[in-house]
Amino acid sequence: VGRDKAEYMTSLFRSVLGFPKEGINFRDFMPVLEDAKGLQILLEGLEKALPVPADSFDSVAGLEARGFLFGPALAARLGKGFIAVRKAGKLPPPVIGEDYTLEYGQARVEVESDAVSSGERVLIVDDLIATGGTAKAATDLIRKCGGTIAGFSFVMQLEGLDGIDSLGPYPTSTLVSMP
Ligand code: PRP
Ligand code: ADE
Repeated sequence: VGRDKAEYMTSLFRSVLGFPKEGINFRDFMPVLEDAKGLQILLEGLEKALPVPADSFDSVAGLEARGFLFGPALAARLGKGFIAVRKAGKLPPPVIGEDYTLEYGQARVEVESDAVSSGERVLIVDDLIATGGTAKAATDLIRKCGGTIAGFSFVMQLEGLDGIDSLGPYPTSTLVSMP
């Protein structure tokens, strides 16, 4: 995205100190979705800033919950299917799971066992990368299922947490960045 659009989208994020825990500055992206122009910038921006060409991956995987709010729309724009990486206990068996730690807690993600085919090339999307724990769990999970990671697309990157570095040498794109 251009600088004006990036600044506009950044301005839509709402910051809430002390949520969900003391010491966390929560960057709320719901106002981006609520804003018609913000939502356009988000989808166009992710499409234009893909970390790899669209013909070099087969599907888009989104992380519950916020990755579900725009991941399927992006996948549809690209003519791809969408893989739902859900929080534990929501999907019927058989599932494959992965435990992880994020900036303010611990959790487990799961996918349905046949959601990813062998050798499938997957682009992982989420609203925000902080420590990278969630995205790393999704990476391990998709690889456990036999898929390969084509890259990552994030809307927001939190600076100073080394989230992207912790993912390994994958192509990554982020639209905006905040402390
Ligand atoms: C948030 C965010 C990312 C993750 C980033 O999700 O949407 O998925 O945290 O943090 P990390 O880089 O430190 O792992 P959260 O688990 O709060 O769930 P939600 O999408 O259901 O709000
Ligand atoms: N996920 C992890 N850390 C976060 C933060 N600071 N704001 C919003 N979502 C987050």
